[in-house]
Amino acid sequence: MTKIIDGKAISQKIKDELKEEVARKKGEGKEACLAVIQVGKYPASTVYVGNKKKACAYIGIDSQSYELPEETSQDELLSLIDKLNDDPKVTGILVQLPVPGHIDEDTIIKRISPLKDVDGFHPMSVGALCIGEKGFVSCTPAGVIKLLKYSDIEIAGKECVVIGRSNIVGKPMSLLLLRENGTVTVCHSKTKNLKEVCKRADILVVAIGRPKMINEEYIKDGAVVIDVGIHRMENGKLCGDVDYESVAPKCSAITPVPGGVGPMTIAMLMYNVVSAM
Ligand code: GUN
Repeated sequence: MTKIIDGKAISQKIKDELKEEVARKKGEGKEACLAVIQVGKYPASTVYVGNKKKACAYIGIDSQSYELPEETSQDELLSLIDKLNDDPKVTGILVQLPVPGHIDEDTIIKRISPLKDVDGFHPMSVGALCIGEKGFVSCTPAGVIKLLKYSDIEIAGKECVVIGRSNIVGKPMSLLLLRENGTVTVCHSKTKNLKEVCKRADILVVAIGRPKMINEEYIKDGAVVIDVGIHRMENGKLCGDVDYESVAPKCSAITPVPGGVGPMTIAMLMYNVVSAM
């Protein structure tokens, strides 16, 4: 029987635990406030930002929302980040990506104080992860590790294959699996024999951004498959990077889309915000 990993239920459990922790920390006089900045009107971003603010309200922490017009200059955005960096009331800062083309994403990410970098995107945060020091960890890959742990899936000694090498998911994912003592292979667009490499995986994490690309031919019997992708199909339904119908019968455990990795990203953002209290 294939186990369907219920990210919605696990994320709810984490948020409920965080809610209690927030109440406890508030009792010690600690406060948290997440500042969320959105530049321009990307419909998906508006949904994500709304969900982040809702999650803050649920666990009992303040949030501030900055909805800036598309034509906001890079300097204006940097000034706002400087102001929030200096504001002791603000404990976490997040600039929703993507930003419009005239703004350089890396410059923005580097301007956020590493002490308030709850997305875990700052080079200092990534560097800390790389050398095993404390720091904020990128939320989606951190959520994948939590899903595996809550599902009692052992990582140590396992063949872990990550497809995708983005700074936000693939690279931190591989570092986290390595930290958990997995044997990690990272695949990307230039990887030769992708199917053969994937077929070695005990744990396959798919973050390629191509709808239903991974079918049963990429899967070893009994593998654990984690699907980070999310796409809207022409019929309006959501799907992942994995062709769920063909892959699910072959694996021991799999995340659905929606309801797998997606809800974990926000739960782990809340985890980072609470840890900054
Ligand atoms: N855009 C898509 N995912 C994310 C995320 O986790 N954080 C931010 N800031 N932007 C995103």
